[in-house]
Amino acid sequence: MKIGIVVFSKTNNTFSVAERLQDALVKQGFDAVIDRVIPVNDNPGPKEPITFQHFPDLSAYDVIIFGSPVWAFSLAGVMKAYLAELPTLSGKKVFCFVTKQLASKFTGGNKAIRQIRSAVAAKNATVDQGFIISWKDKNREAAIADCIDQIATAL
Ligand SMILES: Cc1cc2nc3c(=O)[nH]c(=O)nc-3n(C[C@H](O)[C@H](O)[C@H](O)COP(=O)(O)O)c2cc1C
Repeated sequence: MKIGIVVFSKTNNTFSVAERLQDALVKQGFDAVIDRVIPVNDNPGPKEPITFQHFPDLSAYDVIIFGSPVWAFSLAGVMKAYLAELPTLSGKKVFCFVTKQLASKFTGGNKAIRQIRSAVAAKNATVDQGFIISWKDKNREAAIADCIDQIATAL
């Protein structure tokens, strides 16, 4: 079973969670790699078309864990564009997590998870579980540990 942790990260918060997730999964004997979504422009204007320097090919992965920041109370536009361009995800087991700055879940975290869920559903798969990690939250470390534990348990 091959696991792809597919992340977009501009300032590396999301990437640092992906690294910890990969490390934990590899230590538990899983074959897990990080595959970064890299746009040509990581600060696109709202109407700018998003193009990619690296567009992860998910065909080799049995399990996919999407990770993205929240931007403007929504899923980051780069991840939205990436998910929209994917081919079918039928047969894949999918998880996701988002990182954000503000502690309240009502500042974009829930919406971003919903957006990932519906983008994945449009590709004929279901997000098993989604996690929100708030960078300013005093419980950030516990939230990261919980995300890692719950994904590892569900595999
Ligand atoms: C353009 C932009 C918009 C953002 N909007 C939000 C927001 O609506 N709510 C929030 O909690 N954090 C917001 N943030 C903060 C990021 O979500 C947070 O710092 C995240 O962990 C960054 O992830 P990264 O380091 O992987 O890029 C925003 C950041 C940027 C750059």
